[in-house]
Amino acid sequence: MKNDKPSRINTVDFTNLPFGKIFTDHMVITRYSDKKWSDSEVVPYGPLELMPSISALHYGQTVFEGMKAFLSKDGSSTIYRPDAHSKRINKSLARLDMPELPEAVFMDSLQKLINTDAEWLKKAGQLYLRPFIFATDPYLGVKSSEQYIYALLACPVGPYYTKPLNLKVETTYSRSASGGVGFAKAAGNYAGSLYPTRLAQEAGFDQLIWTDSSTHSYIEESGTMNIMSIIDGTLVTPELSETILAGITRDSVLTLAREMGIKVEERKLKVAEIVDGLKSGKVTEVFGAGTAATIIRFASITEGENKFTLPDLGEKSIAQKIYDELNMIKKGEKADTHGWLKVIV
Ligand SMILES: Cc1ncc(COP(=O)(O)O)c(C=O)c1O
Repeated sequence: MKNDKPSRINTVDFTNLPFGKIFTDHMVITRYSDKKWSDSEVVPYGPLELMPSISALHYGQTVFEGMKAFLSKDGSSTIYRPDAHSKRINKSLARLDMPELPEAVFMDSLQKLINTDAEWLKKAGQLYLRPFIFATDPYLGVKSSEQYIYALLACPVGPYYTKPLNLKVETTYSRSASGGVGFAKAAGNYAGSLYPTRLAQEAGFDQLIWTDSSTHSYIEESGTMNIMSIIDGTLVTPELSETILAGITRDSVLTLAREMGIKVEERKLKVAEIVDGLKSGKVTEVFGAGTAATIIRFASITEGENKFTLPDLGEKSIAQKIYDELNMIKKGEKADTHGWLKVIV
C-alpha cells in the first residue's frame, strides 16, 4: 500500500542530514506466525499498533542490522553487501532463539523499499537501511515468542561522525562476556552500553573502547565500530570472538588492505600494546570501521588518567587510503571486483 499523502522529500534539507532522524516515505513490514513469514508489504512510514504486552518490550527479543544503499555513478541503485548482512542477521536470530529470516525475504524487502523510495536515494546519494525483527507474542511468560514482525526502514544520511574521535578505554563496565550475545546484533547489547557511554560523553569523550570482561586488558571494539590500528606499518585488529560483532566494514577493510599490500594481523590486542606503541611512536594510527561511521580516525585514546594523542597523517594515512578505495567501490567509481554491490532492478 503506497502512501497516498504527498511525499515529505521536499521538506528535507539534504545538505544537512542528521543521522537516523529522517525517514523515507515508506517502510516494509513482514509478519511471522504459524512458523512462516507472510508476504512483505510496503506501507507508509508511521506508527505501528502493538499490544503493550509484546515480549520484545519486556524480554528484549529484538535483533537488527545496519546497512547502506548507494546511488552509483551510472545512476543505478545498489546495496552494499546485503548477503553478508543477511547471514549476520540469521546468526543473531539463532542466538536469540528467533526464527530464521530467509535471504529471499530479506532481499525482497530491500528491493521493494529502494524501488518505492528511489527518489530519496537519488537525492541523498546514500540511504542507511535498518532491518529489524522483534517478538510480538502478547504474553508475559518468559519464553521465546511464536510471533514476530520484520520491518525495514530507510534514512537519508550524512556522516555519523564529523570529526576525529576521542576515545576512552572502558575498564569498569563490559559490553559482552563469554557465552553471552556480544557477537549478535541484539538490541540488548546496545541498551547495556548506553549508561557507560553517557558517562564517558559527559567526561568529554566521543566513544568507548570496550575491553574483555574478565581482565579489561584486551581491546574488543567500540560502540558502533570495530577497531583497527597501524603498528609498525602492520594493520592489527582484534581477532573475532563470541564477544565481538563481526563487522562487515571490518571484513572489507581487511580485504582491501591485503590487496594494497599492507600486512594484516587479526589477533588479541592488548591495551598496553597500543599505549606503549603510542608512547614509542610504533603505533601511528588507530581508527574505527563500521557501516554508519565508515572509517573514522581516532584523535586520542585515554586510559585511566593518561591521554595519548594521535598524529593527523592526512592523505598519507593508511586509514585514508583504505577509506578512499572503499568509497570509490561503493559509489561505482571503481570496479567492484569482490561482488560487494547488489544492483537493485
Ligand atoms: C558494536 C558494533 N561493532 C561493530 C560494528 C561495525 O559493523 P559493520 O561494519 O557491519 O557495520 C557495529 C555497527 O554495526 C556495531 O554496532
